[in-house]
Amino acid sequence: MRNIISEREKELPESTIGKLLRIAVENKDVISLGPGEPDFVSPKNIIRSAKKWLDKSYTHYSPPGGRQEFREAITKKLRKENKIKTKPENIIVTSGSTEAILLALMCMVDPGESVVITDPGFLAYKPSIEVLNGKSICIPLHEKEGFRLDVEKIKKKIVPKKTNAMIINTPCNPTGTVMTKRELEEIADFAVENEVLVISDEAYEKFVYDNTRHISIGSLNGMEDYVMTLHSFSKTYAMAGFRLGYAVGPEKIIKAMTKLHIFSTISAPTISQLAGLDALRGPQGCIEKMRKEYDRRRKLIVKRLNEIDGFRCVEPKGAFYAFPNISSFGMKSLLFAEWLLKNAKVAVLPGTEFGRFGEGFIRCSYATSYDKIEKALDRIENTVKKLKIRRKKPS
Ligand SMILES: Cc1ncc(COP(=O)(O)O)c(C=O)c1O
Repeated sequence: MRNIISEREKELPESTIGKLLRIAVENKDVISLGPGEPDFVSPKNIIRSAKKWLDKSYTHYSPPGGRQEFREAITKKLRKENKIKTKPENIIVTSGSTEAILLALMCMVDPGESVVITDPGFLAYKPSIEVLNGKSICIPLHEKEGFRLDVEKIKKKIVPKKTNAMIINTPCNPTGTVMTKRELEEIADFAVENEVLVISDEAYEKFVYDNTRHISIGSLNGMEDYVMTLHSFSKTYAMAGFRLGYAVGPEKIIKAMTKLHIFSTISAPTISQLAGLDALRGPQGCIEKMRKEYDRRRKLIVKRLNEIDGFRCVEPKGAFYAFPNISSFGMKSLLFAEWLLKNAKVAVLPGTEFGRFGEGFIRCSYATSYDKIEKALDRIENTVKKLKIRRKKPS
């Protein structure tokens, strides 16, 4: 058979995540600080709910936009918790927020048009834009600026009438940065002035620490027509395998996404939507329990990393990742991650998985038990001590 693989596919970057995590899973003595999903199992009431609906034979498709009662419950949640005033017609339920990202971009980006993203940033954004022959405009985030997004840098890079959207992610994967109200207001002003739609990825909305508050940009005055907010059940309720998320935004774009949805997955899984409905209506204590445990682990990982000679770690205020600077070891991020895996038997992700400005960093997930994190850090410390390379000042 001749090679029929599309150029589009060939141009997509190979991900090292899969390779590293596979080694970590296959090799039982490796401790993995790689995962991007909660180590917690979904709460018992949610598992019970999924079983209940299966027993009641809910094995059919759902409407492409999502089940009506579920979208109504999401509307209430958005009003109460995110201060986003909306209606069920402005919501689409998707198979995880990853699907919502792609659907939103498919509806907004024609070949040659561009979308602003941050570098480092969540690894799905760039390929999702480029697979559509769109251009990604990368705004570098720097450690010395606390990985904060500066709107002035965006203004210099956009192309009028060709830059259709920008993706923000707060709390941020991989840096753990949480955007302030002031920063969001600046982004909002920029979006309105330049007619750029903000795609606000809030997958980690519930995991913020040290009195930090998560604010949805969609709650700011006058932003209804300029913001598409994405939420996920994967992190909030530890339901990653249920594949459940949703987008709320301008009705015209939600309608377009729903039209496309019919040709991608038809609908998000019915059982997941029903379990998601019960998750929203049920007790919410599980979220705070997980948040508290992540916070305990966060404190441990940041403290221990900063105590190890050669590491420098900005304290993350949200999500469940630490993103330390390892440039003093004189190895590229990928090499350092491979070296740690081989010598310390600890899996981490190279910062370059998240963009070229991730060079000099690694991502350590603390969605792993406290004991394992302690052990992993002991191993890293002991292994790094043996390094013969003379260290330079971190860049
Ligand atoms: C920032 C960010 N957005 C979206 C997702 C995708 O989540 P979902 O499971 O809802 O597709 C992830 C997953 O790690 C993420 O880190």
